[in-house]
Amino acid sequence: MANASLVIGNWKMNGNAALTRSMTDALRSAQQPTDSVKVVVCPPFTLLGELTRHCYYDNIAVGAQNVNANENGAHTGEVSIEMLKELGVEYVIIGHSERRAMYGDSNDVVAAKTAAATAAGLQAVLCVGEDKQQRDDDKTWHVVEQQLQAACEQLSAEQATKLVVAYEPIWAIGTGETATPAQAEQIHAQIRAWLTERFAAVGEKIEILYGGSVKADNAAELFAQQHIDGGLIGGASLKEDQFVAIVQAAR
Ligand code: G3P
Repeated sequence: MANASLVIGNWKMNGNAALTRSMTDALRSAQQPTDSVKVVVCPPFTLLGELTRHCYYDNIAVGAQNVNANENGAHTGEVSIEMLKELGVEYVIIGHSERRAMYGDSNDVVAAKTAAATAAGLQAVLCVGEDKQQRDDDKTWHVVEQQLQAACEQLSAEQATKLVVAYEPIWAIGTGETATPAQAEQIHAQIRAWLTERFAAVGEKIEILYGGSVKADNAAELFAQQHIDGGLIGGASLKEDQFVAIVQAAR
């Protein structure tokens, strides 16, 4: 029996206006009145307005894949928290491994974005996870704990009520090599213990998602794990039938 509460689709640099319509239609047709699973779709910035228009009346929330921590101003090419909120965006992915690796999102940058987003009332989806070498060297928890510590250093308990953590082992992202439920559960349990230690009762409620090759055929077993509260889905979130099946597996 799944105990998931949150499923987020991260489209990355993919998608178009047609997909915002077909995906919201597919999710709407699969919705049940008793749905307790929150669904969030994170398209590229260019599709946020289009998506909001199509899911305004549904229990689908809109999320962004990144944000700049600064106020509006001389930041060419960037998007501010104020701009996301004006579009009705409720969630923002922060510190995805692809941004950490390719676009300069260091622990300090991730900390500033997490603090600014949660202070402004956005749900910050903080991504953490190790690479293959770090796992092989048995350094997984060391890496994840460092990322948690850096990102949460400036957070008050109030801001932590707006935090979601996504454990995404880098070696499982886009590879089809999903972490086993046991591998994922082990790290999720350690993340839960760390959040409870750091934020007490608030920490007990922070949702911890798994990401990394979640598919329709493996989602249910992952979501059945005690400390896995849902998923952060990449490739499968671009296919209507796959994403709907993953949401249904969370129920
Ligand atoms: O943010 C989610 C993403 O990193 C996972 O990608 O394609 O392995 O589901 P994928």
